[in-house]
Amino acid sequence: MAGLCNIDEAVRLLQSGEVVGLPTETVYGLGANALDTKAVAKVFEAKNRPSFDPLIVHVADLDGVRSIAELTPAAESLLLAFSPGPLTVVLKKKSIVPDLVTSGHPTVAVRIPAHPMMLQVLQQSGLFVAAPSANPFGYTSPTTAQHVLAQLGERISGVLDGGPCTVGLESTIVDFTGESPKVLRLGGMDVAQLELVLGELPVQTSSSTPHAPGMLSAHYNPGAKIFLHHSVGDALSAACVTNDTAVLLFGPKDEAGYEHQYSLSTTKSYSEAAQNLFAMLRELGSKYPEIHAVRLPEEGLGRAINDRLVRAAATR
Ligand code: TXA
Ligand code: MG
Repeated sequence: MAGLCNIDEAVRLLQSGEVVGLPTETVYGLGANALDTKAVAKVFEAKNRPSFDPLIVHVADLDGVRSIAELTPAAESLLLAFSPGPLTVVLKKKSIVPDLVTSGHPTVAVRIPAHPMMLQVLQQSGLFVAAPSANPFGYTSPTTAQHVLAQLGERISGVLDGGPCTVGLESTIVDFTGESPKVLRLGGMDVAQLELVLGELPVQTSSSTPHAPGMLSAHYNPGAKIFLHHSVGDALSAACVTNDTAVLLFGPKDEAGYEHQYSLSTTKSYSEAAQNLFAMLRELGSKYPEIHAVRLPEEGLGRAINDRLVRAAATR
């Protein structure tokens, strides 16, 4: 069983081809040296991840991006505006990136994470780190080191504890390899912010075509059946039928007082809701057979949170 490690140990493990749980501002990643095919193969194995689902490569700075990918002017302007941060860009890959990382695609997903400990690991090791979210394939993403140990502790060499993730949703992915940029995954960076730099950005998320290979419609399984509702009233009526199910809502709890109500944010803060989402799904999934969740307004991070809820509900 792996335990917690410090930055020096994480660097040493990565340099010797091992797989380590690493904190980022979005979710915890399962990192390995991206240029070491054997190490990358261990990531797929530990996660039970199908090899058709490519990995994101984490780099310390723009020079790192240029080392592994053909940086376009539009992608550069987006990275300059929002990196380090919860943003991933898909670019044409350079030949040093192993095909295993990109699942054979000629493109690579790159990101500069904002977590100070992760940045230090990247700088100190001098490595490019391929890291998917540190959960078994198809399950809820981890937002604490303890989540990683609980699900993957037996399969990895250590976890660097950087505290709870401050964003809580995976990065927003923007593809720059087509005729014009488009969003492949909604995430921790609000699309409206990106549009301030790029102009209107189409969102093309729900396909399992080779273009967005990992965007599977059923994902984030928390262990309970999830049902989605358009209003708190609907969710409460559905939950009351058995009285043994959780209601997950956004905003204040209903005064009428059904016992098992949980709020992602009582003050309707999208960023707080994003921060809480995966940890709450995990906790409720371990306590209740069913979770009745209320959709958030389709604006800001609410869109990305709804996207995760829809995929989690599809695992039912
Ligand atoms: O916030 C994040 O992005 C986290 C942290 C650890 O950085 N990572 C993460 O990785 O969410 P993962 O593996 O769970 O999701 C990566 C997504 C997958 O859906 C994958 O299909 C997509 O990125 N992806 C990777 N390379 C791609 C490529 N070349 N073209 C299109 N999609 C790609
Ligand atoms: Mg993932």
